[in-house]
Amino acid sequence: MIVVPGPSSPRLGRGVADILGAKVVPVEYKNFPDGESYVRVTESVKGEAVTLVQTTYPQPDKRLVELLLLIDALRDLEAAAIKVVVPYMAYARQDTRFREGEAVSIRALFRTIEGAGCDEFYTIDLHKESSLEAFRVKAKNIYASEAIASHLRGMGLMEPYILSPDKGAINIAKRVADLLGAEYGHFEKTRDRITGAISVRGERIEAKGRPVVITDDLISTGGTIANAAKLVKEAGAERVVAVCTHPLLVAGAYDRMKASGVDEILGTDTIEGDVSRISVAPLIAREFR
Ligand code: R5P
Repeated sequence: MIVVPGPSSPRLGRGVADILGAKVVPVEYKNFPDGESYVRVTESVKGEAVTLVQTTYPQPDKRLVELLLLIDALRDLEAAAIKVVVPYMAYARQDTRFREGEAVSIRALFRTIEGAGCDEFYTIDLHKESSLEAFRVKAKNIYASEAIASHLRGMGLMEPYILSPDKGAINIAKRVADLLGAEYGHFEKTRDRITGAISVRGERIEAKGRPVVITDDLISTGGTIANAAKLVKEAGAERVVAVCTHPLLVAGAYDRMKASGVDEILGTDTIEGDVSRISVAPLIAREFR
């Protein structure tokens, strides 16, 4: 098997290849002066099963174009099978027509990725798993909870309470809590569809004197976590850890969360950044053994 790490997943792609003992075929890439993307697969992949790893952040639109170009190039180069791993799938939150006239963005992108020549598709903690129904080829959502729980276990937290900041991400909190044998619960979040303003309401949680781990699929501006953290601190939490699968961390998110009482911020390497201390490489590699 060959692993091709795309321009946005160099570490994760190599990590997956190392675990599998697979050959890495690097990609040459650059931007043209007008902003267009250029990619080149640097070695032959003819007759080989290829796993392409390319996340879609930062610059989601550019990363998506690179992804489509790479799938097309691999098809042209006569790869026997193209297995596409998009660790963080952008546009997944627009999974419904919330307002008349909107595009169902994630469905449009999945159809396009399949049309480009993807034989199998994998992603991690997709915002809504049912979005994968847009594919006709095999498509799978991999849970990061095992890697997250194992990292939290290593932190030696005493009786942690696992909290989802909203009902939508409760399954992540539940999976992590079950693996740790911990209690879990959720807050209620509402977001104004036009202004984007968030408000979080808390049910009573048993946080006093305990570490609370707030889990979410992604952290973008950090507003959701910051709002939840304030309530958790008011409830007397001893320590607040924020952990997400996809650490986008835009527009001062890190400082916003810190200022709201978050002691530690963690993410996985579906997006390779400063807080990405949890690797999902073993979970991806397991799919291709
Ligand atoms: C939305 O439902 C997601 O699960 C996240 O909670 C949300 O996108 C986080 O965004 P932000 O960090 O900007 O509050």
